[in-house]
Amino acid sequence: MTLIWAILVVALSVYALYELLNIHKRQRDPPGSTRLPILGHLHLLGKNPHKDLQKLAKKHGPIMYVQLGLVPTIVASSIDAAEKVLKTYDHIFANRPHHEASQHLAYGQKNLVFAKYDVYWRNIRKLCTVHLLSNQKIHSFQSMRKQQVELLIQSLKKEARDRVVANLSTNITSLNVNMTCLMVFGKKYMDEDLDKRGFKAIVQDVVHLSATPNLGDFFPFLGAIDLQGITRKLKDLSKVFDEFLEKIIDEHVNPHEHKQNKDFVDTMMDIMQSGEAKFQFDRRHIKAILFVSAMDTTASSTEWILTKLLRHPQVMKKLQKELQQVVGLDRMVEESDLENLNYLDMVVKEGLRLHPVAPLFYHESMEDCVVDGFHVQKGSRIIINCYAIHRDPNVWPEPEKFLPERFVGSSVDFRGRDFQLLPFGSGRRSCPGMQLAVTIVRLVVAQLVHCFEWELPNGIQPCDLDIDEKFGIVTCREKPLLAIPTYRLKK
Ligand code: HEM
Repeated sequence: MTLIWAILVVALSVYALYELLNIHKRQRDPPGSTRLPILGHLHLLGKNPHKDLQKLAKKHGPIMYVQLGLVPTIVASSIDAAEKVLKTYDHIFANRPHHEASQHLAYGQKNLVFAKYDVYWRNIRKLCTVHLLSNQKIHSFQSMRKQQVELLIQSLKKEARDRVVANLSTNITSLNVNMTCLMVFGKKYMDEDLDKRGFKAIVQDVVHLSATPNLGDFFPFLGAIDLQGITRKLKDLSKVFDEFLEKIIDEHVNPHEHKQNKDFVDTMMDIMQSGEAKFQFDRRHIKAILFVSAMDTTASSTEWILTKLLRHPQVMKKLQKELQQVVGLDRMVEESDLENLNYLDMVVKEGLRLHPVAPLFYHESMEDCVVDGFHVQKGSRIIINCYAIHRDPNVWPEPEKFLPERFVGSSVDFRGRDFQLLPFGSGRRSCPGMQLAVTIVRLVVAQLVHCFEWELPNGIQPCDLDIDEKFGIVTCREKPLLAIPTYRLKK
C-alpha cells in the first residue's frame, strides 16, 4: 500500500513538473479573426483604424491578436489590458517598433518619440525632462505665450468687427507653430522661406508623409524597395529640414544679442559644451531632438475641445459664466487664473477623453511573455487603443456624450495613474510634454471662450457641426473649424 502511495506521489510530482516546464504549451495566442495569407488582418483596417480595432475588440476581447502584414500585433483595449501593458509589463513593452519614416526623418530613430528603449533613450529622456520640459522651463516662457495669445485675440477682434467667418483651425495652428518656434528656436519661422514653401507647409508635409501607411512598416523586406516612393520624398524633406536646423544651430553658436531667456537650442548647446550628457552628444542629437513633432498635438486638442463647445452651447455658457466669475469681463485670462477654473479643467478632460489626438500608441515587446494567459512573442507590436478605452460603456456611462459634469467629485485625471483616461499614455514612454500641452490647451480654450461669443456660419445648427476625424500621427478634424466671433470683454 505504502509503495502504491509512493508511486502515486512520484507520478503526480513528475506530472506537475512536466506541466510547469511545459507552461509554454498551455499558453494560447490571444483571440482574433481569421487572417488572410500575406495581408494578415490589414484588409480589416480602413481610414480610421482606431474605430475598426474598437469594433474588432468588441468581438474578440480586450487583448486581441491582429497580424498587420507580417507583423504580429497585440491590441490592448480595456483598462485592465492597458494597465498590464503600461504598468505590470512596462519594462518588457517599453520599446518602440520599427517606423520606416522616422529612419529618414529622425536621424535613424534618434528622436525621443521613436528611439528604441535603451541607454540612449534613457539619456535623452532625462535631458528633455530635466532641461527642456521641466516646470521651471515651461514657466520661463509664460510671457511669450501671453504675448502670442494676445496677438491672436487682436487679429480675431478685427474679424469680429468686420463680422467675418474666422478659420479657427488655421489660427490655432499658427499660434502653436509660433509658440513652439519661439520656445525651441528663439524666433518665429512661419513666414521664413524654407525651400520656397514656408516652415508651416514643410512641417505639414512631414506630418502627412510620416502618417501615410508605408508598406515597409508591415512588410519589412519591402522597406528598401520603396514601392510607394515615400522614402524618397522623406529623404528630400529631411535634407531641407537638416539644412534649416544646421543654419539655426550656426546662428546659436555666435548669437548676435544676449538673451535673457534661453531657448531649447541654447540649452542643448550648453549641454553639448558642458559634457553633461553621459554620451557623445553632438549636433546630430540636437537636430534629432529638435525635430518638431509635438505642435500639432496641442493645436488639434484645442480644436477638438472648441468643436465640442460649439456643439454644446449650454456647456460653452457655463464655462463663460465661470470665467466671468473668476476673471471678470474687464481683462483677459492670465495663466495664474487657470488653477481656479475648475469647470475648464473638466471641459478639457472630457474633450481629451472623447478626442485623444493619439488614439493609438505603439510599443514593442522586447521579450517573450505571458499576459493574462496569452502568449506574446518577442518583437510583437503592441497597440494601446485609448480611443476604445475612453469610450468603454463599462467604465464611462453614456460614453459618446460630451458631459464635463461626469468629473464632478471624481479624482480621475489624465496624468497616467488612471488607466481609464490615457490621452498622454502612462509609464516609461508616457508623454513628457503633458504639462506644457495642458497649460497651452487650457490657456487658449479659456481665452477664446472668454473674449468672444461664437456663432456657426451659414445657419449651421450646433448639433450639425461635423466631427469627422482624419487619422494620422495626430488625429485632427477632417475639415477646418469655422465660426463667427463677437467680442464680449469690456475693453
Ligand atoms: C509621447 C500625447 C503634447 C512630447 C506621447 C504619447 C502620447 C502623447 C499618447 C505616447 C505614449 C506612449 O507611447 O505610451 C500627447 C498629447 C499632447 C502631447 C495628447 C497634446 C495635447 C506633447 C508636447 C510635447 C510632447 C507639447 C513636447 C514639447 C512627447 C514625446 C513623446 C510623447 C517626446 C515620446 C516619449 C517617449 O517615447 O519616451 N505623447 N502629447 N508631447 N510626447 Fe506627447
